[in-house]
Amino acid sequence: MPAVCFVCLGNICRSPMADAILAHLIRERGLDGWSSDSCGTGAWHVGNRCDPRTAAVLSRHGIAYDGRARQLAKGDYGRFDILIAMDEANLADIRQRAPANASARWCLLGEYDPEHPGSEVPDPYYGGDDGFDRVYEQVSRSCEALIAAEG
Ligand code: 4NP
Repeated sequence: MPAVCFVCLGNICRSPMADAILAHLIRERGLDGWSSDSCGTGAWHVGNRCDPRTAAVLSRHGIAYDGRARQLAKGDYGRFDILIAMDEANLADIRQRAPANASARWCLLGEYDPEHPGSEVPDPYYGGDDGFDRVYEQVSRSCEALIAAEG
């Protein structure tokens, strides 16, 4: 029953998608004690709404999201139980910035992916719309497995 925070680079494409999907599943299933948030390792988009392509995919799946981008902060290492990175670079940043008193653990979302265990969620920012659909599918099945594993 963890407090989860998804972490990507910009906090406008992948981690908001994961946050929205997990929050939706938590609401839909009434999962007690679960919570979801997201942040980015970079600061470029702080305060911005998610990328319109992420919003479009979520909307097509009937999921609303009104979060705004924020940057990974020291306090996140104490507020959350698990920091879940989208790719290896995010994971390395999480590890390097960890304060000595961090209570959170961290891992790659792909560790939960039943189809491609250990895979990264590729950054779709500079690609086409289909990249965002692939992120949705990958993140969706990984969130289902996350709930089964940590519930
Ligand atoms: P995200 O995608 O890490 O999934 O939010 C990106 C968004 C913006 C940038 C890079 C990645 N950027 O360089 O601005």
